[in-house]
Amino acid sequence: MDAESGADPVRAPRILLGVSGGIAAYKAAELVRALVREGAEVQCILTRRAEQFVTPLALATLSGRPVARTEFGDEPAPTILHIDLVRWADALVVAPATGNVLARFARGLADDLLSTVYLAFDGPVVVAPAMNPRMWDHEETRENVARLGRRGVTVVPPGEGFLACGDEGAGRLVPLEEIVAEALAAARRSSSLDGMHVVVSAGPTYEPIDPARFVGNRSSGRMGFAIAAAARARGAQVTLVHGPVALAPPWGVETVPVRTAGEMRAAMRQAARAARVVVMAAAVADHRPAAAAERKISRREPYTLDLVPNPDILAELTAARRAGQVIVGFAAETHDVVERAQAKKKRKGCDLLLANDVSTPGSGFEAEDNRVTLIDERGRAEPWPLMSKRQVAERLLDRVERLLARGEGP
Ligand code: PMT
Repeated sequence: MDAESGADPVRAPRILLGVSGGIAAYKAAELVRALVREGAEVQCILTRRAEQFVTPLALATLSGRPVARTEFGDEPAPTILHIDLVRWADALVVAPATGNVLARFARGLADDLLSTVYLAFDGPVVVAPAMNPRMWDHEETRENVARLGRRGVTVVPPGEGFLACGDEGAGRLVPLEEIVAEALAAARRSSSLDGMHVVVSAGPTYEPIDPARFVGNRSSGRMGFAIAAAARARGAQVTLVHGPVALAPPWGVETVPVRTAGEMRAAMRQAARAARVVVMAAAVADHRPAAAAERKISRREPYTLDLVPNPDILAELTAARRAGQVIVGFAAETHDVVERAQAKKKRKGCDLLLANDVSTPGSGFEAEDNRVTLIDERGRAEPWPLMSKRQVAERLLDRVERLLARGEGP
């Protein structure tokens, strides 16, 4: 706190810079200088192999901090080094990231300080790979990169050119300015929703027919869970109201499990009261059986299922919105996607809407990835490329933050 004004002074972004053992590690010294020049505090973590290419002394001198090298520090100490480091940092940046580091991160191994820090860190992570083009093109590396992308890691892909090994192709560490820009953006993101209450719905609802059967849909909850995790990583206080799913809840998120649309409606109304941002990513069943049978209906009984419409939770939330609240809807469509989504946004009164074509394979329901079209605050359609659901979540939150900054959301 500033003693005179009582205001929090703007703190320098704190970056944990992991350097792993490839020839591009020699550029780490210049990277530290560039980050420090931009006002960042930098704490370097050097892997054992990276020490062959750049000395701890060089990085310590440039960063003004001793370099962290092993899980237990150089001297016996009563602290837990990797936890101290992750508590301190706004962002973890690994440059260069070798194929080995990408593989260890992707599999969740924690067998040295850098990989242990990665596993313990719940803020934004940026990796800038650099390696031989054959290694970069290897299917394993591709899969590891895709996996990290799905978890919200920003991968700054290597550039093309001649490499130290004499081969030509993709594998060069990108120019340092790009890494600096990504590192600072990641550090900013780590607190861009600081303390803000964000409520997200996810997954399907199950509407009982009898004690054994229900009307439901194919939503896995992945999209909503990704939004909740991304908001948490930006410092938000997140409530995740979710239907029946088989996903582990994101760390640090309050979860409210529900089953039916009626339960989701009650939970969302309650949670949204104090929320600044509300995202309805759940696939709420549009209809429910007029009455659930108390006993299991036998195959031999003639049976007609009478359905009645469920309340429109999103429309109710927008009708009751509080000042300054930003509300986001989704639309699952199979045809005339943009026109139907634009009409839906108007009808439901939300600020932003993401439309998925749920008839596209590899996108929408159940898939790891999603191709959506954003209907923005003015009703304009902006198609986004196929991305991991976490990347969709990050891009959506960037747009939400823009509305919050403009004081929009009525
Ligand atoms: O869960 P995943 O497998 O990851 O799949 C993601 C997803 C396809 C479910 C998600 O991206 C998505 O599109 N969610 C919304 C699905 C949906 O119900 O669309 P809709 O067009 O029927 O509804 C429009 C909006 O109204 C949605 O925000 C929905 O949450 C809301 N709604 C719908 C019906 C209802 N009774 N109440 C509502 O609030």
